[in-house]
Formats: sequence, structure tokens, C-alpha cells
Amino acid sequence: MTAERQGDAFENLLHEERRFPPSEAFAANAVAQPSLYDEAREQGTEFWARQARELLTWDQDFTETLDWSDAPFAKWFVGGTVNAAYNALDRHVEAGLGDRVAIHFEGEPGDTRTITYAELTREVKKAANAFESLGVAKGDRVAVYLPMIPEAVVTMLACARIGAVHSVVFGGFSADALRSRIDDAEAKLVVTSDGTYRRGKPSPLKPAVDGALEKEGHTVTSVVVVRRNNEPVEWTEGRDTWWHDVVDGAPEEHVAVAHDSEHPLFILYTSGTTGKPKGILHTTGGYLTQTAFTHRNTFDLRPETDVFWCTADIGWVTGHSYVTYAPLVNGATQLMYEGTPDTPHQGRWWELIEKYRVSILYTAPTAIRTFMKWGRDIPQKYDLSSIRVLGSVGEPINPEAWMWYREVIGGGQAPIVDTWWQTETGAHMIAPMPGVTATKPGSAQVAVPGIAVDVVDEMGVSVPDGSGGYLVIREPWPAMLRGIWGDPQRFKDTYWSRFDDMYFAGDGAKKDSDGDIWLLGRVDDVMNISGHRLSTTEIESALVSHPSVAEAAVVGASDETTGEAVVAFVILRGSAKDDDDIVTTLRNHVGKEIGPIAKPRNILVVPELPKTRSGKIMRRLLKDVAEGREVGDATTLSDPTIMQQIAVSLRK
Ligand code: WTA
Repeated sequence: MTAERQGDAFENLLHEERRFPPSEAFAANAVAQPSLYDEAREQGTEFWARQARELLTWDQDFTETLDWSDAPFAKWFVGGTVNAAYNALDRHVEAGLGDRVAIHFEGEPGDTRTITYAELTREVKKAANAFESLGVAKGDRVAVYLPMIPEAVVTMLACARIGAVHSVVFGGFSADALRSRIDDAEAKLVVTSDGTYRRGKPSPLKPAVDGALEKEGHTVTSVVVVRRNNEPVEWTEGRDTWWHDVVDGAPEEHVAVAHDSEHPLFILYTSGTTGKPKGILHTTGGYLTQTAFTHRNTFDLRPETDVFWCTADIGWVTGHSYVTYAPLVNGATQLMYEGTPDTPHQGRWWELIEKYRVSILYTAPTAIRTFMKWGRDIPQKYDLSSIRVLGSVGEPINPEAWMWYREVIGGGQAPIVDTWWQTETGAHMIAPMPGVTATKPGSAQVAVPGIAVDVVDEMGVSVPDGSGGYLVIREPWPAMLRGIWGDPQRFKDTYWSRFDDMYFAGDGAKKDSDGDIWLLGRVDDVMNISGHRLSTTEIESALVSHPSVAEAAVVGASDETTGEAVVAFVILRGSAKDDDDIVTTLRNHVGKEIGPIAKPRNILVVPELPKTRSGKIMRRLLKDVAEGREVGDATTLSDPTIMQQIAVSLRK
């Protein structure tokens, strides 16, 4: 959909008159003060140099803040050396904070673990030794396929400690998707678990790893398996090792060698506009600086007293930046929860907030809309008075959900920070500062201090207040991606070729009359399902790989709960029968090819697809059908009667 059309749909948002300034008490004591914006403006990149030195402990100080001579390939904090795990762990223990709780873990079945900074440091050192004993060295890639259990964080930090590059693959991805990510990164080690718990039942993970490695020709030499749900697993001798066998007995001492500021920290695959996922590459110094900075300022963090809870899975960037790295680098205490919000009952999250006195909650609009559907009487049964800041991420938050979040969860008091960012940006880019900004329901509003965002028209010219266009970033930023793994040209083409010298985010946006930014969703073929990125082409490829399918077109249709839902239109091959079975078969096929999260909500069998004379599928028209609207202008179709044929076939 074009930014223009989405703009119309969102027009009413821009007449939002409600403003929620922070209370005087909150503003007076806030971590981020208005002066932060002035400093950022006045100091330019030196602002980030100051943050880098304040927030991180460098082994060797850097000599140059930013080297942009090889744009768009940035180097931040040039010459500096730093170890991410040392910054997340050892230095807090050395500062006498070893007894502070790093992670309150709550498993889905109700089992709990309290892990202090001293304990987490010890565990990471042991894991680092164990991985090294399996032959993993600096620069090697490690695939991580784990549920939300402390070992996930331990694994990521152990990799960072030895300079190995982790590539976390979300547990909802299939064996095939896992394999393609393992192959692209040429991973040496895979860390997984027997499984996890989902909705009160054991749910397996290891079979997907076995499936991924079934066919030869991969680079994996070892698989380390965490025992989580005690279900029986298949075992490949010589390749598989239990975590408790290799980590528990490993030496407790491990020296964290500092790595170059630009040493790769991780790869995280994300959907783009083509079928093949992109391995987004992040490096160390800049990434840690901006994630720690935003975590502290956007959430008004007080590490001594706050209990932070980011509900994202470590399989997504939010789990990387705001579960594994920033909270630990900032020495905070956080809650980690393994399960779903409705197990064993729909009040589980609120029960957890009451139990751990969570003070900062960071979650996604899709979750908030689900809770709204379940009813406010559920959260109202719990004591949520500990909450003082609420965060939102992943997709635009509609004003109704925003207001509900504020009133029901935040007690009408806690500021809401709507944070816009991407896998590629590494950390928050647009977000209110909770003690400074008068917030508006539905808008992420203002650039983070030190970040240069803008909205431009087709020609790349900044639009005036009150107008819409494309979201861009004008200056390099510390946590920016450093490239796409193994594909420098694709990096340039995807982000830096649409406009001269500007990063093109792929989102439509508008500036309101105050100059505040409203995000309007993607302008490319990327969908946002429950805050998860999926590409239309990727699902289309999965569908046409099935022998019954001749052609497929996928669109994201708006959905009350998940934001968007996958709707697929397929043309069957002559011999295939159009019945209920085919729909089930195709949904499962997509589940196998990509993962359950990609299964279409609806699959509609049609005789033809609407195409322009040049053969391009007109998704706009299919979206009208999928959303039950009057079909828009179809005059550019090669055969204008096609939409009628589709309508007739769907009525049948
Ligand atoms: C969307 C998730 C509106 C946006 C951190 C972006 C948002 C994509 C917001 C990145 C927000 C994320 N308001 N839209 N606060 N946050 N998005 O890479 O379309 O999984 O381009 O990163 O999510 O998704 P990703």
C-alpha cells in the first residue's frame, strides 16, 4: 500500500487533541531531562562519544568517534576495544553488585530461578569455556535455537565473550528456515533445548534442529542441548552434547578479551521484500552504546530499584537489545517469562507483575489488544501499582489500545513510550522521553536525542508539518546495521539507493501540525503480523513450492488483534482439487517451509490473479478483497474482468 493511501486511513489520528504531560514529580526526577536534546544538538557525534565513555567500560579508549568515509559502511568508536559480556556482567560484580538479581526467571509451568549478577557471570564464563572446548573461536558463527530460558541469555553472552557471532533463530521457525539460516551464516555450533512448554504442554525444539541437519553439506560440528522439558530426544553421537555435561563441569574462570569496537556481535535474520531473509549484521561498541543509552533514557531506568520486563522473545531484535544486552549492561534487574499470556489463566502477566513488582513493562500493541478483548476485569484483579513506565514496540499502537494501556495497566499515571525502531536500527530511534514529552495516544512523536529522522516526499525533500511521506534517517547512528551478512550490494540497494545519502526505513510516516511523527506502516512488501516481520514474497514462494499450486499472491489484511493477518490467493494446478483439504494442506505446507507464524489466516482459491499489463500482481486490489472492501480502481489490469471472476469464485 502506498504511504498516501495509508495516510488517508490514518487521517483522523492526526486530529488527536489529547496530551499527557508527565507529572511534575516525574519530570523533576527524570533520568532524561530536556537538556539532553540541547546537548545532542550542540555536540553532534561527540554526544555519542560521551555516551559511549559514560555507559561502557572500554579496555582501550577509541581515537575517532565516527568514520563515515566508506559510507554507507560506518565505523563507530574507531580504535576502541571492548567486551560486551564484561560490560554486561563482570564489571558489575567487580563494582560490588554481584548479589543484585540480574534475572528473575519464571517458567511456564511455574518453576522459578533467581539469578544474581555473580551467578550469571559464573555461568557465562563456564559456557564460554565449554564452547571453546568444542572448537568455537573468535569470529565463528553460533546458531541459537532456544526458548525463553536463562540459557538463551547465557549462550548469547558466552558467544560475545569469546568473540563468536551469534545468530538467534526464533523457535517458531521451521527446520527448513533454520537450515537456510545455518547455511547462510555457516554456523559451526547450534545451541538448542529438548523443548519448552506451550500452553501447559511440553513442546519440542530439538527435532527441528535434527531436521535442519538431516541433509549433508552443512557446516555444523556440534549441537549443545539444554534439558528443559525432559521429553525424549533423538541423539546423534559425536555431534550432540548435553548442556549439563559440557557446561556444568567447565572451569569457572574465563578472561574476557576485549574485541575491536567494530567486531561483529551478532547476525539476526529478518524478512525483506524478496524471498530470501537478510542476515542483519550488528557490531559491538556502537550497538552497546545506543541500546544502553535508550534503555536508560527512554524507560527512565533506575537500576537499583526498577524491575524491568520486556516481553519479547530473544528470537527478535527486541529480545536482543532489551533483554540480553541493554538491561544487563545497565546493571538492571529483569523478569524473564517462558510462556504465553493465557497459561494457566488469562491473568498470568498481571500476576507476574504483582509478584515481582515489575516497574517498567515493555510489550507490543498486539498483546495489548488481546488483553482488551479479554476484558479489563482480569488485570484489575491484580496489584499493578508498581508500574511506573510503559513501553510499546513493533507496530503502530492505535489510540484506543494506547488509552486502555494507560488507564488499565498504568493506573492513569505511568507515561507510555511508543518506541519506533527496526532490526536494522538496533535500538530505539523515535520515542518520547517519559519525563519530557507530553505524549499523544498513537504517536511515537520525536527522534531520540542524537538521532536525525525525517519524513520526505518521493523526491527526497523534507515534507512540511501536516504532510506525509517516507521515513528516512539522515545521519549515521551508533547502533546502525553494518551490512547484510555476505551481501554488501544488497545492503546498499535495500537501504541506501531509494534516496541519496539517506537511510530508507521502508515505513510510511506523517508529521502532524506540531512536527510530531506518526508511523503509518510499511510501504513495501513486508507485513507486520503481531509485530513480527514477514515478507509477502517469502510466503508466496513457500506456496508455489507446493505441487498443487500454480501461482500465489499474498497480502497483509488489517486484523483487529494481530494488526495484520496473512491472506493468500492461490491458483491451483489443473489436477488439484479445490476443497477444504487443500486449504489445510497449504497452511501446513507454509508452516513447514517457514514456520507456524507464517501460516495464512485465509487461503482463497481463485481462477486468476489481477495483473497489470506488465505482469505485476496488483496486491492493492487483493487487499480490498481481503478486507471486504469495495474493490478500487482496476482499469490498469490487463483483463479488467478478473476482479469480477474472483468475486464470483469467492461467493461460491
Ligand atoms: C514496525 C522491531 C510503528 C515498523 C523493533 C518497522 C513500528 C518494523 C514500531 C520493524 C512502532 C516497529 N510504531 N511501527 N513503535 N516499532 N514498527 O525489524 O514497520 O521486527 O519498520 O523490529 O516494525 O520490525 P522489526
